[in-house]
Parts: sequence; structure tokens; C-alpha cells
Amino acid sequence: MLRVNDEHVLTKIDYDSYKERVNSINQMIEENKGAGNDYTGWVKYPETFDKVEFEAIKKYAKEVRNNYEVLVVCGIGGSYLGARAALEALNGLKSQDKLEIIFLGQTFSSDYVHDVLSYLENKKFAINVISKSGTTTETAIAFRLVKNLLEKKIGKEKARKAIFATTDSSKGALRELSNKEGYVTFNLPGNIGGRYSVFTAVGLFPLACAGIDVDNLMKGALQAEKDCKNPSIEQNPAYKYAVIRDYFYSHKKPVEMFVSYEPRLSQLGEWFKQLFGESEGKDGKGLLPDSATFSTDLHSLGQFVQDGSKILFETILYVSKPNNKVVIPHDEENLDGLNYLENKTLDFVNEKAFLGTLEAHTKTGNVPNVIIEVDKLDAFNMGYLFYFFMKTCAMSAYLLDVNPFNQPGVEVYKKNMFHLLGKKGY
Ligand code: PA5
Repeated sequence: MLRVNDEHVLTKIDYDSYKERVNSINQMIEENKGAGNDYTGWVKYPETFDKVEFEAIKKYAKEVRNNYEVLVVCGIGGSYLGARAALEALNGLKSQDKLEIIFLGQTFSSDYVHDVLSYLENKKFAINVISKSGTTTETAIAFRLVKNLLEKKIGKEKARKAIFATTDSSKGALRELSNKEGYVTFNLPGNIGGRYSVFTAVGLFPLACAGIDVDNLMKGALQAEKDCKNPSIEQNPAYKYAVIRDYFYSHKKPVEMFVSYEPRLSQLGEWFKQLFGESEGKDGKGLLPDSATFSTDLHSLGQFVQDGSKILFETILYVSKPNNKVVIPHDEENLDGLNYLENKTLDFVNEKAFLGTLEAHTKTGNVPNVIIEVDKLDAFNMGYLFYFFMKTCAMSAYLLDVNPFNQPGVEVYKKNMFHLLGKKGY
């Protein structure tokens, strides 16, 4: 499970002073009375999710695993980041699973899209298009292109059976198109927004296709739901972390750097940035979420963290047990001078890098560190982590007095872009 360690935050946070506010916000969340309360379906979702659809997701995922070489997942923002984060965290960066997952629809880059389409020319592939609104331009263009390719390869009839759509349960352009075309569809409940949707088919279908144990993912989420509704700051890890974040925000640390020591968690950093950035960054407020993977980025950002402007605190997601063991071998000649590490595991070295960095950043650099400790990366803990961060985010945003569930600022670039593209009405 998970522990929020505040031993290295370099200050004594007065949790008691937050007691009343946290208590009343918790009550507001529980009773669904806060701003954006029409988007809080995720809060109780780990217990209330549609079990019939869950079984259908697993059944169709099995079909995809058995019949295709590649699943192309078309989506952007909340409609792709969670699946990608869990996929990489659990299957690794060099997965040799029989089904390859490729993400598309998250960019307008002609080079990227061209490369993916060329790669798919000779592959047997299915598509999972994911969009709540059904009108997101990046996703819609990519879907049109990849659907075209599929229809050319296998014909319209067969293509229909290889396309799975995840969209709003009742409305939107993709819902209409899917109904018309007769695609298998999965529901994104109307009361769950994109960045809180990883436990719906948005995350579950691609993950189940990738062979990930979605039953355990949901069990982890359920456990987190239970642990993270306790109003006590000491006992609720999400609220403890939310208070720490709020404390630093109000004490001249406007940047939070989310750090892990596992490259397979770098996409979780992307998911984290979207969750907190889109939920909190409004009305001129909010911590800027940043992310880094150490020790890699100690060789790029490490200098700034250690010695640069004192604008940030670090949140370290520390996984104590790796899934795989790599031992450093003995070398007769020892020309690289590494025999002092012979028979030691890479994880032993990684841990010492973590401990050495912790001391350097906190004691020498005076940069506060919060440590989120998890024992291992598995589906259960991944489910726990996702829910834990979502609940932290809701509490943090309400502490800032902003609506955690809207994203009005995102529309501005879209309007300008549509105007430049000559879309009717802009
Ligand atoms: O969190 C959000 O709501 C957004 O990031 C959306 O998920 C993203 O913009 C994609 O939207 P849609 O699913 O409507 O295509």
C-alpha cells in the first residue's frame, strides 16, 4: 500500500490548523455539494462501477488479444494518459507482450502520424477510439486517418468489428457515429471528466487488452477509496498530502516536482501533471506541476534543484521493491573500477542514489521533499495510486477554492486554432 512520509519537508506543518477546513471539504465531497459536483462520479466509482460493462470490457479485450497484433488507442489528455501511465508502469518500456499498444490522436505532428500509419500497413490491428466529447480535433483527425487505413486494408464490414469506441454514455459526435456504424461501444459516465476517468473503460479497455489484471487494479482503487475518505489528516494519506501541497503553495513554493527513480513511471508523471495542472491551475492560482525521472534527470535538472531558485518542493514516488533483479558482475581486469559493486543489485545502487540525493537536496539544497512510499509496482498498487492522487487533487483544489473538475482555460487555444483553420462559427 502507500505511506506519505513528511520527515524531510524541512518544517513542522501545523496539520491541526487545517483540521476544520479539511473536515468540511471532506463532508462537501462526501455529500457531493462542492463546485463541479456534476463531475464527481469517480469518487465512489470503485464500488459503484458497472459490473456488467466490466465483464464486457474483459471479454472484448480477450478477443482483441487473440485476434490482432496491435491495438491503436486514439485519445488525448484524460482520454489516454492514464492508460499509458499504467501500461508502462506495469508492462515496462520494452514489453514483449503478444499485443502491441500504440497511442495515436494525441498530436497533430504529421511525422508521428505518418510513422504510425506506415508501421500499421503490414500489421493486423484494431482501434480503440476514446473521446468523451467526440469532437476533440487531435483525436478525430487521427481516427479518421487510421479508420481509413483499416477500411482500405480489410474492408468496411470487417473494420467495423475491429473498432471499439469509448465515449459519453448518451451524447456526443462519437456516440452518434458509433451507433450509426455499429461499433462496440463502452461508456464514459456523464458525471466523470476525462482526467478522473482511468477506472472507466477509458483506462480499463486498453489495459485489459494489454493483459493487465484490471480486477486487481479496481481492488486497489477500492482500497484507496476506503482509506481516502477518512476525514482525519493523520489517517488519510490523500488529505495529508493535500495539506502538505497547500502548505508549500502558501509558503512561496509555487512548483511541485514529481520525481520517481523508475523510467517506467515517467508517464505517470505526465498523468500527474495533467490531473493537477488542469484541476488546480485556474483563477490565477495553483502549483505548477513538473515531473522528472532520477537519476537520469539529475544530470539535467539536478543542478537547478540543488542550487537554483528556491521555488520548488519535490514529491518523490519511491517504490521499494523492483519487479526485476539485475546483478553487477565481477570483472577480472576491473578497468572500469566497478568491482567494489560486484554482486550488488542495480536496485541497491538506485536506492543509494535516492538516499544520497535526498540528503543533498534537503540538507544542502534546502529543498523540501515529500516521499510517497509504495512497496511494489503491481496492478493493485497502481489502482491505489491513481485513486489516491485523484482524491488528493480534489482536496487540494478545494483548499485553493477552485473547481477541480472544469478546464475553461483549455478552450482559448482551441477557439484561436479553429478561427485560423476556418472552422464554421469561429
Ligand atoms: O481531463 C479532461 O477533461 C481533458 O483532458 C480531456 O480528457 C481531453 O481534452 C480529451 O477530451 P475528449 O475525451 O472529449 O476527447
